[in-house]
Amino acid sequence: MTGAGSGPRLSLEIVRTPEQLADALAVRRTVFVDEQGVPLDEEIDEHDRDPREIADTLHLLGRLEGRAICTGRLDLVRDPAHITRVAVLREHRGRGLGAQLMEALHDEARSRGLRALALNAQLHAIGFYEQLGYRAHGPVFLDAGIEHRAMDREL
Ligand code: COA
Repeated sequence: MTGAGSGPRLSLEIVRTPEQLADALAVRRTVFVDEQGVPLDEEIDEHDRDPREIADTLHLLGRLEGRAICTGRLDLVRDPAHITRVAVLREHRGRGLGAQLMEALHDEARSRGLRALALNAQLHAIGFYEQLGYRAHGPVFLDAGIEHRAMDREL
């Protein structure tokens, strides 16, 4: 079971405009740059360009009462596609919202005919992804100075 079935319900939207992208990046800046110390120029990458100009990345944005509180991306260039930059604002964690966001990313992947997904998990988040059906494999490696392991699951 994941926490997706209980607690507050996220309002989820596919990021299609620069304004939505700015809301998603604000969540990531709070979580990855301010909280985790990732340099801003490593946090923002080529997948964060104007969403009207890129078809190979899908950003999802989750809101509660209109406020952007979580986000995650689906990188469709890689095979298998990768989930990246999953972040929930600290004050909203532990209520099943990250799981709702992940299930929505899975649904988007399924709707595109994908049969598997992969991600690189920060070590502290491995339990979160295991609850969602992912299994870790391979060695621990550093990305932006943070320890990670590769994980994947079938859809
Ligand atoms: N370790 C083990 N289990 C965890 C966990 C963790 N760090 N975080 C959540 N879980 C479990 C929950 O207990 C819950 O299980 P349950 O359904 O049996 O109760 C399930 O995973 C879903 O948890 P949820 O409340 O939806 O997660 P969240 O909203 O707190 O979001 C993160 C989880 C990891 C996205 C959030 O902690 C976060 O944004 N962290 C900072 C950014 C980050 O590190 N992102 C991951 C980069 S790889």
